[in-house]
Parts: sequence; C-alpha cells; structure tokens
Amino acid sequence: MRRGTLELVRCPRCRGGSLVPEADVPEPQLVFGPVRCLGCTARFPVGEGLIDFVGERAPPHGWQRGLESTWVARGYERYIRPGLELALTRGGFDRDSEYLVYRSLLGRPRGTVLDLGCGTGLFTRRLARDLGGAPVVGLDVSRPMIEEALAQAREASVSIDFLRAEAPDLPFQAASLAAVLQAGSVHFFRDLDALLSEVARVLQPGGRYVASALTALGLFGPLASAAALFPRPERVLREACDRAGLIRFERVRVPPLVIFSAERP
Ligand SMILES: C[S@@+](CC[C@H](N)C(=O)[O-])C[C@H]1O[C@@H](n2cnc3c(N)ncnc32)[C@H](O)[C@@H]1O
Ligand SMILES: [Zn+2]
Repeated sequence: MRRGTLELVRCPRCRGGSLVPEADVPEPQLVFGPVRCLGCTARFPVGEGLIDFVGERAPPHGWQRGLESTWVARGYERYIRPGLELALTRGGFDRDSEYLVYRSLLGRPRGTVLDLGCGTGLFTRRLARDLGGAPVVGLDVSRPMIEEALAQAREASVSIDFLRAEAPDLPFQAASLAAVLQAGSVHFFRDLDALLSEVARVLQPGGRYVASALTALGLFGPLASAAALFPRPERVLREACDRAGLIRFERVRVPPLVIFSAERP
C-alpha cells in the first residue's frame, strides 16, 4: 500500500484518528503489515495493495450475498456483468460506452480518485491507466470481489490500492479526494442521504461525484426488497444531491439506468 493512500485514510472505528504503520519499513513510499489508529486502539491488517477495515462479517442479504461469493467474483467480468448489461440495456450500451461517459463526466481530477463499490476493478484499472499518474483507489465490501480486483490489477501491472470497507461510512479524511466514481452500486444503498453526505464530506472543493444508478426494475419491481435493491427515479437522486450540498447535477439517461454527476462547491 502506498504511504500516500494511508495519509488520506481515517480510522473507521473512531472516525477521527489517522493511521500509522506499526513497524517502520525500509521502503519510505510503501506500507506493509498492520496499521494502528492514533486516536483509539484499533489495528487493521495491510497486505500488498489492500487494507481490510471489515474483517469477518455476517452474510449479507439479497443480491449482495451473491456478490460476496467467490464464483461470482471470478466470473463477474467475463460472464455476469456482460449478462447484466445485455439484460438491462438489451446490448445497446456496452462497457466501453459506459466507461466513456464516466470518463467524460469525471473531467480532469487533480488528486486521488476513489472507485466506490469497485467490484473486480474493471473501471478502477482503466482509470489508473488513463489518468496519467493520478492515484486511483478502489473500495468494496466484498472480500472475493476485492481479492479478484487485486489479482487482476497485478496481472495487468497497474498500481492501485484497495480498501475493504463498508459504505456509506467512508474511511477517508474530509476533503481528501479529487473525485469519486460509483458505477452500478447506488441502488445497493437503502440510505441515500447517508451515502451522499459521506461522498460530499470526502470530496475536495470542486471534486466531482459520478455515479450510475438503477431507476426502475420494470417487471421485477416487486422483487426489489427481497433482492435488497433500491432503484430510484432521477428526481430522487437529484434532490438527494441537493440535500448533500452537491451542485451542478448533470445526467445521461440510459434506461433503466441513469448516469449522473454532481460537484462539491
Ligand atoms: C454490481 S457491482 C458493481 C461493480 C463495478 N463498479 C461495476 O461497475 O461493475 C456492485 C459492487 O458494490 C459493492 N457494494 C455493495 N454494497 C456496498 C457497501 N455498502 N460498501 C462497499 N461496497 C459495496 C458490491 O460488493 C459490488 O462489488
Ligand atoms: Zn480509531
């Protein structure tokens, strides 16, 4: 893990303290081994490129349960996501088009970019390659997803730090990030206000939030609560951005998804 990433992070337990390595390592830019909080007694393990703030947790409900299984993580990029893209947009909006929309809405971030709910890191890797050296970090709660993301980033020789953490709480210092991308996971959050107020807290002034969200589940609507999914119309997303103090709401409609961006003033 890069020392620069650790400097952006705050302890998720006391929500205050900075984290420091327990043992000094010879390489000044990198951190290995556990880190501890200067504000409380919490310790968290750090591996090569991964800090784990979650540890063991009870199995989640609904759709998220699948996203925390190893076989889904292994087949996500090659089989599962293409299947979802086809089912949702009938093949009219492929992954490259989706990425180009995110990329253009993100602008030119000057600082660290977070891929929130990064999954296996398909967009994290592309951002890390495209942003010309701006640091990119990925965050996800699913251990299998983030392990797959780490393995794929290594295979592609892309340098990305990953954090395993459970949003809406974001383990970052206030105003520490230049941009947040959240592709395909807004509808996993029951409490949209909590999510957006955290996003607004961690963004630097002028920092952009770019996200995609399901607006409806069509015929599958009645199954939403069993799947623990929360599709929302564009108006609800726009009003929630307003309440969080995020301005300049813009959107691209790709039914049943909407891709939107908003900015911290
Ligand atoms: C459908 S996948 C999207 C992955 C990737 N961004 C993409 O566009 O393919 C949703 C991801 O959000 C993650 N996720 C869901 N709830 C989360 C939470 N509370 N905190 C962090 N990650 C979460 C899941 O584990 C999963 O990897
Ligand atoms: Zn602490």
